[in-house]
Amino acid sequence: MARQEVIKKYAVFGNPIEHSMSPLIHEYFAKNLKINLSYVPILGSLGKFEKEAKIFLENGGSGFNVTLPFKEDAFKLAETKSKIARITGSVNTISIKNGVIHGDNTDGIGFVKDMKNNIEYDFNDKKILVVGAGGAAMGVIPSILNENPSELKIYNRTFEKAKSLSDSFENIGPVEAVSQDKIHKHNFDLIINATSIGINNIKFELSRKILNTETVCYDMSYGKISNSFKMWSNENNLKFHDGLGMLLEQAAESFYIWELQRPVITEELKNNLKLRL
Ligand code: ATR
Repeated sequence: MARQEVIKKYAVFGNPIEHSMSPLIHEYFAKNLKINLSYVPILGSLGKFEKEAKIFLENGGSGFNVTLPFKEDAFKLAETKSKIARITGSVNTISIKNGVIHGDNTDGIGFVKDMKNNIEYDFNDKKILVVGAGGAAMGVIPSILNENPSELKIYNRTFEKAKSLSDSFENIGPVEAVSQDKIHKHNFDLIINATSIGINNIKFELSRKILNTETVCYDMSYGKISNSFKMWSNENNLKFHDGLGMLLEQAAESFYIWELQRPVITEELKNNLKLRL
């Protein structure tokens, strides 16, 4: 009798989840590497993440990704955690390591890899501004600090949140919160938008005094959501990158954690995603 092949089951939990491009990305990675697996989107119920995640694993799930709003819940679910997951307090990748639920966070490395490998940006000695102090900012700041920037300032509508974020990372590198009345005294080589301004299509505004001749803009979101920051960047004739590369790189890191094989991010895959934006 022919032995039936066991197909590994993966998923992404989020709410909402219908627009997630992770299934397309992981299925593409798997096909290219000739690995047979399934990867499905799961609409998690608010307040029931732990239960639903455990059911997925008990039913043979090998691991899953976690997106908004469950990254802190996933941190609580994980019995062991990587260093970066512990530092950021959030988990976007769950795997089973020696029978134990393990949590990792690939967002920061995904951002840094996109900047270094695809955009060919060197963080060393650069003056960096992160706009926003929510989960997205928290996920990338420690990884940026590890790249030896000369300074990393956090600017946020609610100053206290920027302050508490900078306090929690000050032992890693030169990070500081900057207030609205002081920001114009600085200039930055790289400005990263980690706010959710674009979701509501609100105009992005920031003093032009913070620009220098080198300033590059990066929005951690992609598609229409990155348009407000892109418009501001275009008005100021700055180089602009959206977060599609980061999405792909963080996915590749998660795939590697599960399958120990490094997927290739091809132009074909990028084009497939752009068609869906
Ligand atoms: P995420 O997990 O995507 O980072 P979040 O934790 O809700 O989402 O954080 C959203 C960020 O966008 C916050 O920094 C928020 O500023 P506040 O801390 O002051 O709330 C910022 N943000 C959202 N809407 C904004 C707006 N209209 N103007 C300025 N900042 C905004």
